[in-house]
Amino acid sequence: EKGGYDYFMLKEIAEQPKAVADTLLGRIDPAGSLTLDEVRIPAGALREVEKVVVVACGTAFHAGLIAKYAIEHWTRIPCEVELASEFRYRDPILDARTLVIAISQSGETMDTLMALRHAREQGAKVLAVCNTNGSTIPRESDAVLYTHAGPEVAVASTKAFLTQLVACYLVALYLGQVRGTKWGDEIRAVVRDLADISGAVERVLETMEPVRELARSLADKNTVLFLGRHVGYPVALEGALKLKELAYMHAEGFAAGELKHGPIALIEEDVPVVVVVPSPRGRSVLHDKIVSNIQEIRARGARTIVIAEEGDETVVPYADHLIRIPATPTLLQPLVATVPLQVFACELATARGNEVDQPRNLAKSVTVE
Ligand code: M6R
Repeated sequence: EKGGYDYFMLKEIAEQPKAVADTLLGRIDPAGSLTLDEVRIPAGALREVEKVVVVACGTAFHAGLIAKYAIEHWTRIPCEVELASEFRYRDPILDARTLVIAISQSGETMDTLMALRHAREQGAKVLAVCNTNGSTIPRESDAVLYTHAGPEVAVASTKAFLTQLVACYLVALYLGQVRGTKWGDEIRAVVRDLADISGAVERVLETMEPVRELARSLADKNTVLFLGRHVGYPVALEGALKLKELAYMHAEGFAAGELKHGPIALIEEDVPVVVVVPSPRGRSVLHDKIVSNIQEIRARGARTIVIAEEGDETVVPYADHLIRIPATPTLLQPLVATVPLQVFACELATARGNEVDQPRNLAKSVTVE
């Protein structure tokens, strides 16, 4: 069943271009508008939404963090993202005009289920983003947008994450479309760009050999740090989570702007630091700031592993290792930037002799609180 791969994780990483394409399938009409009628929340109700709250755990939570950037930018609706396990214990403010998005691959995560039950008790509408047909979370939600990743077997989530991102972008763009924000033209352009993402992920996968080699060379390290900004920040968190669960290494993700507020004290000779660089187009201020972060940490001895867009030459002098990703619109970059981090973690786990598909102490779906 592993289709010739040594591990399900490798197979699932390789399936990502198809998973992304399948999740878009039938949801964009030939004129470039989104058709999410399957969601069955009337457009009128979506126009009345005053707040969006995303609840999820682990990797799905990271998808939620990225969704916030997309939802707030394209819809101007305030969006909060909260760990499902924390949500109901703080007496969150919810009412009929709150749209709660519960993201879950399995649809059986108890923390997420309890959060959505709490939200519905307070009168909020719940939209599930889920990969498992007929599972508990979509059954208990008001509406569901399924991700079409196909079954994910490896404990470490990969293709489900990319499709969760696609689903969240679709929700954000759809909300923007039905509410008619000032970003109408941008929304139409991004919908077109989404169609190219599957091919971009494919291209990333074709260039992963140097990443595997790099991972093997770091097998005896104790710590790897990850830095990002804007949507690259949750990508850094996801890269660190993958490394913890698969390689059993100490790994932490930081918002690069926080470096000087503490984490820079961790930088010492030869510590590997993975930096996700935003596109030099788009929010170029952030790009320039992160390039100076790379210079700062390198001056303190860090081994810099830089993930940057093709054609971005400014990073070249400061990158000990350079991983290229295709150019995408800023908000869509996580779809390509996450892939090398998955490959990196998988290869490090292998090099350290760990069980890739079944990391110690972990279960594929966490059905207890
Ligand atoms: O099935 P879910 O998406 O609700 O699972 C949530 C987390 O348990 C899950 O993403 C976990 O963090 C993964 N093992 C990460 O790779």
